[in-house]
Amino acid sequence: MAAIKRIGVLTSGGDAPGMNAAVRAVVRTALSLGIECVGIRRGWQGLINGDFVRLTSASVGHILSRGGTILFTARSEDFMTEKGRERAVATCKMLGLDGIVAIGGDGTFRGALELSRLGVPVAGIPATIDNDVGCTNYTIGFDSACNTAIDCIDKLRDTMQSHERCSVVEVMGRNAGFLALYVGIAVGATAVLVPEHQLDFDTDVVERIRASRLAGNTHFMIVVAEGAGSAVEIGQKIHASLGIEPRITVLGHIQRGGSPTARDRETATRMGYHAVTALARGMESCIIATQEGSIVEIPIEDALSLKKSLQMDRYTIMETMQYTGGPSMDD
Ligand code: F6P
Repeated sequence: MAAIKRIGVLTSGGDAPGMNAAVRAVVRTALSLGIECVGIRRGWQGLINGDFVRLTSASVGHILSRGGTILFTARSEDFMTEKGRERAVATCKMLGLDGIVAIGGDGTFRGALELSRLGVPVAGIPATIDNDVGCTNYTIGFDSACNTAIDCIDKLRDTMQSHERCSVVEVMGRNAGFLALYVGIAVGATAVLVPEHQLDFDTDVVERIRASRLAGNTHFMIVVAEGAGSAVEIGQKIHASLGIEPRITVLGHIQRGGSPTARDRETATRMGYHAVTALARGMESCIIATQEGSIVEIPIEDALSLKKSLQMDRYTIMETMQYTGGPSMDD
């Protein structure tokens, strides 16, 4: 192992359940290799401001099951500037940091690339409920957010079914529909609207509700990713087209909170371990990714050029699950 003595760890961008599990894994792996670990608070802005805390094995105790991030998170305008990044490098020097583990999404990693160009090695850990980081199949927090949304929508379905209503539920996903599609399949949605699919309101919404109603269904669940449109507007259009009055629910930031699922804790722990061992080996700046179930290290520049698209076969599967009526098991 290379002789690195001290590393920093930070969380940046939107928080995600499992970030704490990743911080814990980073700290405990570092300590096991004789490397000290400093927590940088409030993301890249904290690195600019010298906002830090020394992390020990005990200080990351009992955080594995906690949502949010004990290091706080932020989006930094200053870090976009050369001056800001120079100040960040100065903090690294002042603290004697031989590398940084940056936990976050695409924006976090673009910052990481800039910092690595200034000579600070960075290992990135993908964590965002949107699952929209191109180089990795999976980002920490996605499974927890899906389960939170599913839990909420199952509850909504109970009351929608009782009142024979239509529900329009907006889930997060400003630029990506991974969460909406995954959740839509898991709750048996009547329709799912995602930013990746050009919306044809008549075909994708009106016709689907109509077909479901003709098949004998009396309640309808429309899941919309925030990047595909506003649930309120979609509800108004459904009312205008079909004469039914949908109930609107915007799940919002509730999806980003809560205790991480087993998948997120386990993935975060493995990624945290690999991030530190990569830095300790003297690996060039990289993103720790999952590909076909395994953890891989991808050089940061290559990682940022990789794109991931929504699996449209899942969209077809979701559509195929449309309720078509027919005899029940009692017939
Ligand atoms: O964490 C990703 C994400 O949830 C997006 O889907 C969403 O648009 C965005 O964050 C909103 O975050 P904030 O309200 O913190 O700006």
